[in-house]
Amino acid sequence: GATPLVLPSLLQCDFANLEREVRTLEDAGIRALHLDVMDGNFVPNLSYGMPIVAALRKVTKLPLDVHLMIEKPERYLKQFAEAGSDLITFHVEAVADAQPLVNEIHSLGVKAGIALNPATPLGTLDAYLGAVDLILVMSVPAGFGGQKFHDVALDKLQTLNTQKQTGQLRPEVILEVDGGVNTSTIGRCAQAGAQWFVVGSAIFGQASYRPAVEQLTQLARL
Ligand code: DX5
Ligand code: ZN
Repeated sequence: GATPLVLPSLLQCDFANLEREVRTLEDAGIRALHLDVMDGNFVPNLSYGMPIVAALRKVTKLPLDVHLMIEKPERYLKQFAEAGSDLITFHVEAVADAQPLVNEIHSLGVKAGIALNPATPLGTLDAYLGAVDLILVMSVPAGFGGQKFHDVALDKLQTLNTQKQTGQLRPEVILEVDGGVNTSTIGRCAQAGAQWFVVGSAIFGQASYRPAVEQLTQLARL
């Protein structure tokens, strides 16, 4: 099958040397970056906003997969698009109706993703399955790196993958998993149907990135 995509989560990286981190990740074979934007309201943690996205846009051509863990994400879609996002994912829990946000992200020429936390039932996404480009299945409650993997994500991925087989979900919709993804969980995520794998501590906690990225990519191959 297609080569699995491992995306480093830029949350526990060295922000004092961001350009160097990006070069090291590129040299390690990374082909896209996952940016964890947190506002201290939707999640009890605060990370960064548009300035960091714009700074990264200046130093890399890699696709920027922006994960908005913020309240009222509709306020900032245009600004994250202008900062250089290639894909903007917001949380279904943060909006009353996701459709207008998906429409606006598309009108900005950016791909639209929708994310759901472990506690949120998959049925919450039903109305949006025909519109989104990506579904981000959280395997940890959004907010922090280094948390333990929640197996409920595997059930959701499996269901979504089955919906691709039965035609309920368009086959081109990307299934992404995020949180607690490491050498002992990534294989099961791939078997359940995940195609994009967000990894934080299992990369940034390592002395060198390349062996970790290569091992994770290999383990994610079906
Ligand atoms: C959590 C973030 C994840 C997290 C992944 O809210 O969305 O991307 O940083 O970090 P690990 O891989 O350490 O769970
Ligand atoms: Zn994330």
